[in-house]
Amino acid sequence: MIAAVITERDEKDALNAIKKIKDADLIELRLDYIKNLDDKKLKNLIKNCRKPVIATCRKKSEGGFFSGSENERINILKNAVKLGADYVDIEYSSDKNVIKDIIKNKTKAIVSCHDFKQTPSNLGDIYNNIKKLNPDLIKIVTYANSVTDNFKIFDLIKTANEENKKIIAFCMGSYGQFSRILSAILGSQITYSSIEEGKESADCQLTMNEMVNYYRIKKLNKNTKVVGLIGNPVEHSWSHIIHNSAFDKLNINAVYLKFQVDKLKKFIEYMKPLNLIGFSVTIPHKVEIMMYIDGLDKQAKGIGAVNTLVVKNGKLIGYNTDCPGAIRALKQKTELKNKNAVVLGAGGAARAMVYGLIENKSNVTILNRTVEKAKLLADYFKCDYGSLDDLKDIDYDILINTTSVGMYPKANELPIGKNSIKNNKIVFDMVFNPFKTKLLVEAEKRNCTIINGFEMLIYGALLQFKLWTGKDAPEQLMRQKVMEFLKNASH
Ligand code: ATR
Repeated sequence: MIAAVITERDEKDALNAIKKIKDADLIELRLDYIKNLDDKKLKNLIKNCRKPVIATCRKKSEGGFFSGSENERINILKNAVKLGADYVDIEYSSDKNVIKDIIKNKTKAIVSCHDFKQTPSNLGDIYNNIKKLNPDLIKIVTYANSVTDNFKIFDLIKTANEENKKIIAFCMGSYGQFSRILSAILGSQITYSSIEEGKESADCQLTMNEMVNYYRIKKLNKNTKVVGLIGNPVEHSWSHIIHNSAFDKLNINAVYLKFQVDKLKKFIEYMKPLNLIGFSVTIPHKVEIMMYIDGLDKQAKGIGAVNTLVVKNGKLIGYNTDCPGAIRALKQKTELKNKNAVVLGAGGAARAMVYGLIENKSNVTILNRTVEKAKLLADYFKCDYGSLDDLKDIDYDILINTTSVGMYPKANELPIGKNSIKNNKIVFDMVFNPFKTKLLVEAEKRNCTIINGFEMLIYGALLQFKLWTGKDAPEQLMRQKVMEFLKNASH
């Protein structure tokens, strides 16, 4: 079930917010947020919810705003019971006799424990202590300081499932954000969302729109297969939007999540036995991941980097779709055979690009700020190299930027002097944020044919989707979803 959390400070705003809620199964009234709450306001709020209500009044030590006495706080919860709240959330740290009284009522009791700093090692004890009180629901929410903290919570959910106990458990924070969805698949009973951005009641809470429209939370169940992006950070990625919309269109019971991963080896070990399809892999894990997988596709091996993992017969196989994605984007606009291509940069992205260009028989020159790195890569691929300054003296057909120069927020920068951009060439920038980089703007002024990084990402994503599902991805829909997202995004 998905609960919309009302965090408005006054009654009128709260009532307005409640009116707008469509997709939630439950409404959590955060009564500690409401200024000058009295019985009349409480009654009015509960009455107007039109959906089952969770009454919650958090004290400060559990992340709340309530500043009155403990007696006053408990009285608010007791009144909420009398006034017909369907659930009452009471902290395990409250007086045990009070908790027992609340549990006795017809109203369902959620006995909760929150840790806003960490995921403590004594989670099992916390769970057992709450269990002894026999509430309708046990709620344990902690802060993830590492991706591995989530696994402690998932193990707790597993225990509760085995013991037929109803549990709500997930992690807060950016390392824990995916648990707000994966926990629900694994058997956590309620997931919480804000009604809109800026109205969150906890760190990295997702909005109702993200939960319902981006992650399709209402369509997920214990059979849902899991796939997602492994990276650090992953916040700005829009992969989840395109893949989840494709799953929806093709009626595939799968979800694409975003995993902020610090401890890669442990993450892979823990995730592998789950109901997995595979992963996308991004910075900084594209090389290290090769140590923890069971097999490698020939192209990924040649490039020396993996950006896609596919589960095949329980084994994790590594692929690289950056390279074919970039090549397809280029081939929409130009032949590659016998063309002179200049690649700016000598990092991982350059490796994938150079590999693909040589496979397609282009003549490649690698130019880099640090010339030694360009030389190393050029020696490996047996091509030419030089410094970024050398561009003005090279007669090229295709110019490709694989450096991060020009990427938001430094969107005003160019990897090369603008006078070295020649007229009527093909210019491809792997930077995809902003959509049209300064390099592409300058190239367009010189009548060049431009290709933006978005094209490579889309083609790479189509390939990934096919690898994971065996089905052709709905390209137009995926393009449209990204466009909508970019239009609404602030940059
Ligand atoms: P990726 O895997 O995305 O390619 P990377 O391996 O860190 O990332 O490579 C980044 C590339 O961008 C490198 O070629 C880097 O040049 P150096 O080898 O000299 O570091 C290039 N790069 C990053 N910032 C740059 C800048 N301000 N000017 C020029 N090149 C830059």
